[in-house]
Amino acid sequence: MSVNTKLNARITATGHYVPDNVIENKYFESYLETSDTWIRDRTGIYERRWLDKDKPTSFMAIKAIEDCLKNSNTTPEEIELIIVTTVTPDMMYPSTACVIQNQMGMKNAWGFDLSAACSGFLFGLNTAAQFIRTGVHKKVIVVGADKMSSIINPEDRNTVILFGDGAGAVLLEPTEDLSTGILDSILHIDGSGEQYLNQRAGGSLHPATYETIDKKMHYVHQEGKAVFKVAVIGMAEVSYEIMEKNNLKSDDIAWLVPHQANLRIISACADRMGLGMDKVMVNINKYGNTTSGTIPICLSEWYKNGKLKKGDNIVLASFGAGYTWGAILVKWDI
Ligand code: COA
Repeated sequence: MSVNTKLNARITATGHYVPDNVIENKYFESYLETSDTWIRDRTGIYERRWLDKDKPTSFMAIKAIEDCLKNSNTTPEEIELIIVTTVTPDMMYPSTACVIQNQMGMKNAWGFDLSAACSGFLFGLNTAAQFIRTGVHKKVIVVGADKMSSIINPEDRNTVILFGDGAGAVLLEPTEDLSTGILDSILHIDGSGEQYLNQRAGGSLHPATYETIDKKMHYVHQEGKAVFKVAVIGMAEVSYEIMEKNNLKSDDIAWLVPHQANLRIISACADRMGLGMDKVMVNINKYGNTTSGTIPICLSEWYKNGKLKKGDNIVLASFGAGYTWGAILVKWDI
């Protein structure tokens, strides 16, 4: 297969879905030692959405992709590759990409799931861009989707208040204009962070047993303070680095699109980049941390609201379990 280096990848459509069921902070006050004020002050979260218990992650991913395809007049048959970024796949296997491909009738697509926790969407976007740049594919879907309510311990006040469910999708297509689209990416992993943020059971190391269930090893475990410290530095530094590398000043950036884990992490990142909060996409107050969903949901909401304009330089930034983190520079062109 010939490799075409004269192409770049551009986002040509977005879509998103969040469940209807709103869980306000005061719900947790009813059975945990916590308060609406603590949650708002320490995280910036006011409420989040949780999907019905009997519905899987693919339900939300499909809704987000349908929204995305509708916005670009594209049919499922035209999609050549689907990358699903998630830590809450419908099942261990087949992949959620297979579930979606089948249910949506994407009969000409292949695809796979990609696991990079809260950085999943950035890792998926960078991967998808390679298939476009090489000329291998012309229409690629990246969908970030997580049903975090399925893996959080309702009795753990450290984590249950943080997470929500949701999905966001983008369509990537080629352009011959190399000055637009996905312009640069800096991505990192550091597996030494595993102990601070994980879900240890359910894989081959700790298959499901009565013991793993008794020890609550199928739930998210997070040492918040430890993760907070590295997340602040990691996300802020990589966002600053991608600006510097591309000779961009803060005035050149239209939007920072940060992973929505904690408002204090987001504002530290904006500070490092010299950006006011009026240039930062924030919806953590409404949705909490939807893991792979946060960044594409922001893109879709801001584009729908007319706040994202053709020619805008935007920096997508994330930090998550692994550790995984990174930044991607995009020139928006729809
Ligand atoms: N309500 C009330 N008190 C709570 C609480 C809650 N929901 N959750 C924790 N606390 C308590 C803690 O038990 C602790 O009490 P102690 O001092 O008696 O031990 C106290 O509040 C302070 O806890 P701490 O962990 O220092 O709070 P924090 O200010 O760091 O906020 C997080 C906690 C989780 C919000 C914050 O650490 C965080 O956002 N971490 C990073 C998350 C992240 O980026 N993850 C990566 C991507 S998913």
